[in-house]
Amino acid sequence: DHDSKAEVVWNRSSVTPAMRAQIKGHTGKCIWFTGLSGSGKSSLANALEVELNRRGYHTMLLDGDNIRHGLCKDLGMSEADRTENIRRVGEIAKLFADAGIIVITAFISPFRADRDNARKLFKEGDFIEVHVDTPLDICEQRDPKGLYQKAREGKIKDFTGINSPYEVPRNAEVKVSTAELSLSELVTHLVKYI
Ligand code: PPS
Repeated sequence: DHDSKAEVVWNRSSVTPAMRAQIKGHTGKCIWFTGLSGSGKSSLANALEVELNRRGYHTMLLDGDNIRHGLCKDLGMSEADRTENIRRVGEIAKLFADAGIIVITAFISPFRADRDNARKLFKEGDFIEVHVDTPLDICEQRDPKGLYQKAREGKIKDFTGINSPYEVPRNAEVKVSTAELSLSELVTHLVKYI
């Protein structure tokens, strides 16, 4: 068995991330949202992008539902597939950040080890984990896509929070409670942090 990776070298570009950032006026970063389905990750990530864009930052939003239609359409919801999903998202986020862009990701990303592996791709301070800490019962009451009901009826296996685990972050930079603050209050809080 020949290891074809052995001949793949790492090419260094002459234009560095710092040089790209200088043109933009800011460095790249990753704002990594994590939370249950229906926790409000996507709405919050979207509202944050609107505000950063309004302030003149170059941003990019990566959202679970969208990425799973393209880059990750070969993946399902098993533990191994979620790990691969988050691995790819981390790598893509890193590429955007190296281009000087503020990347906002909104994935359940239920496993601590997967989130930590994504974090390891970034410099200290360039990866901001935001735990959207909406309790399961509220997510289930909201049930915007009717998925919790289907999961309770046994029609979806491996549904996060019902029959697939969500590992609560221990080292998130920010924890937000969508039950307590309005969307615009939360965005203001996040912008201050960033
Ligand atoms: S993960 O765990 O990070 O790989 O998941 P993600 O890519 O964010 O995709 C989550 C969205 O997929 C829909 N969906 C499910 N979620 C959880 N468990 C199961 N089994 C499942 N099946 C489909 C659901 O709409 C999630 O969207 P959000 O925005 O989180 O509600």
